[in-house]
Amino acid sequence: MIDLSVRYLGLTLKNPLLLAACGLGASLDKLVKATNAGIGAVVLKSLFEEQLRAELEVINDELEGHPEAANFLQGMGLSDGAIWYFDLIADAKRNLDVPVIASLNGTSGAWWPDYAKNIEKAGADALEMNLGLIPYSPDETAAQIEQALVDTVASVCRAITIPVAVKLGMSFTNPLNLALRLAKAGAKGLVLFNRFYRMDIDLDTMSLKPGPSRSNPESFHDSLRWLALMEGRAPLDLAASGGVYDGQSAIKLIAAGATAVQLCSAVYSGGFPAITAVLEDMTHWMASRKVTSFKELHGHLSRRNSAHPELYGRLHYIKALVGVE
Ligand SMILES: Cc1cc2nc3c(=O)[nH]c(=O)nc-3n(C[C@H](O)[C@H](O)[C@H](O)COP(=O)(O)O)c2cc1C
Repeated sequence: MIDLSVRYLGLTLKNPLLLAACGLGASLDKLVKATNAGIGAVVLKSLFEEQLRAELEVINDELEGHPEAANFLQGMGLSDGAIWYFDLIADAKRNLDVPVIASLNGTSGAWWPDYAKNIEKAGADALEMNLGLIPYSPDETAAQIEQALVDTVASVCRAITIPVAVKLGMSFTNPLNLALRLAKAGAKGLVLFNRFYRMDIDLDTMSLKPGPSRSNPESFHDSLRWLALMEGRAPLDLAASGGVYDGQSAIKLIAAGATAVQLCSAVYSGGFPAITAVLEDMTHWMASRKVTSFKELHGHLSRRNSAHPELYGRLHYIKALVGVE
């Protein structure tokens, strides 16, 4: 019997597969399908700060000339606009037998703690904070941006008692340094990585258009590197996100150091049976290698557990390029 159970963010999961934050986690019927397919936990679609601000602007326009009423309704509007989200959390908790992780995606520091508190009140088992920001101002330094992220995480962790995971973009100079600071700020987990929306240009109309929203199976290599470098070196559970389409890539990410592996594009492409297929792939591989538990596999090939840490740096890169014309 293969034991795939894991502890992620202090929660017990029957297996390490998570539904990643996306539209598939925006309604109860889809969440039920994901759990029936065998998912170990679900991350709900993110509640976006911009969505709520857009609703507020409509309210503001309607109340022009009545500033007191506008101020009052602004406060109300912020919560009202998110009521569907808190209801979704409560519904998911009532109807699913796997942990429910809510997700917030915001830009301004002051916004987060209030919503985090309401998310906790609605019954979520944990919170994932998507901090995938794209800086636009040339005046902000990398150090300032990172400090703002750390401060935001600290303010949320002070406001709630449920565990917090942070979903990061991959363009930080030293993710391990940031990870250590986020752990100090109270985060219990790190999701590597957020996939930024892609931009494209329509040459017929010479206008901007969205690029492809889904990843491809090569994307998992980005997470693999940083999981392998970070495993065991920051007091955080690591989750992989990006490019997991089969059991083999999930196994590789776990061997590198992931405690949880998130699925999104694979489920958009293959439907909910993709979750079952990944699980079956994993158990077949483990059975064929006589690996009986997640624990035996976890971090097996991380830098920390390696007799040759130098292979995790430039040596591999140089070896890969030598002989390539
Ligand atoms: C259609 C779509 C919607 C998404 N919505 C969210 C979201 O609401 N919040 C979030 O943190 N990530 C969101 N993501 C990113 C995914 O959670 C995931 O990190 C990313 O797609 C990489 O994983 P994948 O290769 O398995 O797709 C979305 C991705 C897609 C394709």
